[in-house]
Amino acid sequence: MSIYADNAATTKMSRNALDAYMKTSDNCYGNPSSVHSHGQKASNLLFSARKVIGTLIGANVQEEVIFTSGGSESDTQAIMTGAEYGKKYGKTKIISSSFEHHAVINALNSLKNEGFEIVLIDPDKDGIVQPESLEKVIDDNTALVSIMMANNEIGTIQPIRTLAETAHRHNALFHTDAVQAIGHIPFSAKEYGVDMMSASAHKFNGPRGVGILYVKAGLRASKIIYGGHQENDSRAGTENLPGIAAMAAALKDSVLDMKQNIEYVSSLRDKLTEEILTIPNTILVGDRKRRVPGIMNFVFEGIEGEALLLMLDSRGISASSGSACTAGSLDPSHVLKSLGMTDNLTHGSIRISLSHENTEDEIIEIGKAVKECVSKLRDMSETWQEIQSGIRKSEIDN
Ligand SMILES: Cc1ncc(COP(=O)(O)O)c(C=O)c1O
Repeated sequence: MSIYADNAATTKMSRNALDAYMKTSDNCYGNPSSVHSHGQKASNLLFSARKVIGTLIGANVQEEVIFTSGGSESDTQAIMTGAEYGKKYGKTKIISSSFEHHAVINALNSLKNEGFEIVLIDPDKDGIVQPESLEKVIDDNTALVSIMMANNEIGTIQPIRTLAETAHRHNALFHTDAVQAIGHIPFSAKEYGVDMMSASAHKFNGPRGVGILYVKAGLRASKIIYGGHQENDSRAGTENLPGIAAMAAALKDSVLDMKQNIEYVSSLRDKLTEEILTIPNTILVGDRKRRVPGIMNFVFEGIEGEALLLMLDSRGISASSGSACTAGSLDPSHVLKSLGMTDNLTHGSIRISLSHENTEDEIIEIGKAVKECVSKLRDMSETWQEIQSGIRKSEIDN
């Protein structure tokens, strides 16, 4: 038995994406910047991929789509664009949330010694960044607000439209890291009113190493890679055409199948959630409804999430942990901490992320395996014995 339940980390490439990748590599290998016929053929393919993607993300004009190497690069470029806008208009505050991906948080940290004040607002205990929290800290000195559309560890969806409106009332730019949302839930740059948006192909059944930065017409993206004049002089480097063509194919499929995938994956998720929540002293982290279809994060009191993952892996199930393993030490997840969770609880978390490729049988198997493994680990856990005997107080209200 081999079950892949780590789709928030990366997804399997779709058949159409693979075909597009192979076909482009095989038949369209010219450099889009070359003037000869091979180059022109490549340039035409680049043009049509940009058009397809622009339409699918609700861009006004296709020039608003910049192809990058993925989510981390798109996030970094968006933050640097916000910083440049701040320098131009004499604004020194940048607001984001404390549970962003490290691509955003570390890009923001790099701006601290350039005189920017970085304000990170906490989501509420259900994993939602409330517009009122933004209202409290935003002012006319704010250059950029960057709030992710869907959180990668817990899956909760943020009220992007309202947050963007709030930013605009103060003449601040609004960026959303939509890496976990694009291809999974509806998005339209036009409708949401964002100035910048980041996406990454490998999170929606496209290839690794290729992504999108949407930049609204009229705003110039700051360069973070120097070289040629590709991507309308916003991002240097010979275009990853096979990757871009495959990303367009993957996004087309994701958007076409979105309605049925949302229904199917959400039903798998809800079944699994119900089953796992029969385990005592267990919580589903984040709002139960306002979440992307595939992402769940559970906390099991009295055990280590890492131990549970290893046990699940030995049974052929690949999931992931809420904790990042840094230099041999286990740091508690900054996402779970931002929700006000104690270190003890954060260590007992795992993330299960499903896709349309998972089956009902797999869900039954995961539920069964999680129940058995948690029970075994609790039998060996001193903390759990103490909670059971009343020596230690449970941190979960059952
Ligand atoms: C929310 C979010 N932003 C950014 C990234 C980085 O994307 P990439 O792996 O394409 O650099 C990820 C990847 O996990 C993510 O989940």
